[in-house]
Amino acid sequence: MENITSHPILEIPERKKIKFKFDGKELTGFEGLVISSVLFLNGIKIFGHHIKDSSPQGIFCANGQCSQCNVIANNIPVKACMTLLEDGMEIRSCNGLPELPLDDKYIEVGDVDIIKTEVLVIGAGPAGLSATKLLGEHEIDVILVDDKNRLGGKLVLQTHKFFGSQEDVYAGKRGIDIAKILGDQVKSLDSVNIWINSTVVAVFSDKLIGVLKNNEEYVLISPRNILVATGAREKMLVFPGNTLPGVYGAGAFQTLMNRDLIKAAKQIFIIGGGNVGLIAGYHAIQAGINVVGLIEAMPYCGGYKVHEDKLRRLGVPIYTKHTVTSANGSNNVESITIGQINEKGEILPNTKKTFNCDTILIAIGLNPVDEFYLKAKEFGMNVWVAGDAQEIAEASAAIFTGRIEALKMLEKMGIKVKENIDDLEKFANIMKAKPPLPSEPKILEKEDGIFPLFHCNQEIPCNPCTSVCPQDQINTIDNIITQLPYFRDEKDCIGCGKCIAVCPGLAITLIDYRKNKDFPSVTLPLELSANKIEIGKKVLIVSNDAGLGEFKVKRVRILPEFPKTQLITVEIPSRIAKHATGIRLNQNSYNESLNLYQKNFTENETIVCRCERVSVGEIRHWIRNGVRDFNELKALTKVGMGSCGGKTCTPLIDRIFREEGVNIDEVVPGTKRPLFIEMPLKLFAGIKEKKED
Ligand code: FES
Repeated sequence: MENITSHPILEIPERKKIKFKFDGKELTGFEGLVISSVLFLNGIKIFGHHIKDSSPQGIFCANGQCSQCNVIANNIPVKACMTLLEDGMEIRSCNGLPELPLDDKYIEVGDVDIIKTEVLVIGAGPAGLSATKLLGEHEIDVILVDDKNRLGGKLVLQTHKFFGSQEDVYAGKRGIDIAKILGDQVKSLDSVNIWINSTVVAVFSDKLIGVLKNNEEYVLISPRNILVATGAREKMLVFPGNTLPGVYGAGAFQTLMNRDLIKAAKQIFIIGGGNVGLIAGYHAIQAGINVVGLIEAMPYCGGYKVHEDKLRRLGVPIYTKHTVTSANGSNNVESITIGQINEKGEILPNTKKTFNCDTILIAIGLNPVDEFYLKAKEFGMNVWVAGDAQEIAEASAAIFTGRIEALKMLEKMGIKVKENIDDLEKFANIMKAKPPLPSEPKILEKEDGIFPLFHCNQEIPCNPCTSVCPQDQINTIDNIITQLPYFRDEKDCIGCGKCIAVCPGLAITLIDYRKNKDFPSVTLPLELSANKIEIGKKVLIVSNDAGLGEFKVKRVRILPEFPKTQLITVEIPSRIAKHATGIRLNQNSYNESLNLYQKNFTENETIVCRCERVSVGEIRHWIRNGVRDFNELKALTKVGMGSCGGKTCTPLIDRIFREEGVNIDEVVPGTKRPLFIEMPLKLFAGIKEKKED
């Protein structure tokens, strides 16, 4: 694996090298990275082997949710994706069950502190930060808890510009920049106490919240109010080979690339055409990784069309009505086999294809991390929920719902707020709505002067182009944020390029017929090169589905407000000028399909519960024998009893019940006990973890 040493969007910081050992071998990592990332950097994707079948184990979520990445670090079993590397750390792979340290010395137990606060905010992502900001501005005492070592949650992975409006959700700014803005605002508030590297582990019936503070001390918080902004976890998918190292959630891959700057693959294949999959593909190309293809089971991609167009322009094949039939390889992913499906989801004969790839990203959607909210509600606490934990939507919507829930909390405290919450909720619903199908693109007839061309043809909540035009000449139809933008043409366009640079979809070009009607100049956005493109260089100009030819670059501009978007001007024949939507820099070498991978998998080889290695075949067997109680399934198979606490497999098992014709309402759900995240037992006894222990 390589370090990313240049990136069109991300700054490459100086990182301090530190030494550590893995299975006795001395290796080098970087300070500030988690163990899983430095292992990847050293080409290690297999972190251990499972006790049940010796299958190789590695990361899946890279977010502390799936518990697949256990290693033994300085004698303690830890999640590699959540534990920072330390200088001189001795790390061992976890083969079978972790051994307990040979440490039976007498230790003092102490009391666990109980800390009172007006508000506990769980999660410092977009929703948690925007809620905390508002509460802090009203001088409310807040403890903001987050399990990562920096503020921002998933924002820190998002190198693309945000949709929505500039006034409400920073539209046109990148997620990484929004994390910094919101984080700095929250840090400046006197009444806000920020606990990073701290994990909320449980909600108890006596209205106390258990927190592993700073990864070393167990404390209880007694909050008057709680705001749960814990985000989402990625859905797993059941298919043969689904747990091979190399099959990751798309968010895990973005964590490796965009947060930890690791080029974690050479060739990836993406499952899922929603925004998460489409954006992950674009981010991979920005990091110099080949995207072999993307499949979507529906007849069309569910994500924003502008995100899909970005991938199509760069030559990524998108196969709709396709599913994965297997991930292939012995110890790692070596290839993927896909097949075309009918409306019933059945594979059509003779449609299977196999492609070489070393990584498969699962991007089929997210499930809310809502267990803390549900327990707090069950125990009668004053609790609110925002962001993806409330409803899965874009991060821009999470910024908004965090604010709304904080306003509701303030009202409940008897504090008068200026905003009309009903109006805000209406707007939040617009932000959260699924995008409609795109309309047919229309070609403008105008062929004189200079004007922006809008290549977005889907009604999504986005309008930053209307805010940046210095001539005030860009509107959406009826000024509705979800309507398509147009050029009013009442005053001259001055060709400033701000609308091109701000557009999150990279879907605006500027066309100028003033010098030469037959060869107009066209200005296009580019976010694929860390270096400024040279004047005179030949670049491939593309439409949304084809190459249009190579043309010399005539002008390159970088606007100070949008320093990572290059505005590239070329002169091209008028017959193609309005079809030009982008620039492809490197002709990516996408693989042709290989000979079909031939192996007949059985349902007993397809894993549902990753922690306990329980297969689809085992679950079906017991459902067919009449089991209708999740707890009974647990007792019979150990499904859901692993270290992730059933977070990954429970939705998959519900689906198998449905596939077997069982009404899910007839199934007794699994009992959920308070502890939702693993933590060292000794900390419950008030023993403070010390580095030298
Ligand atoms: S990969 Fe570490 S918990 Fe999922």
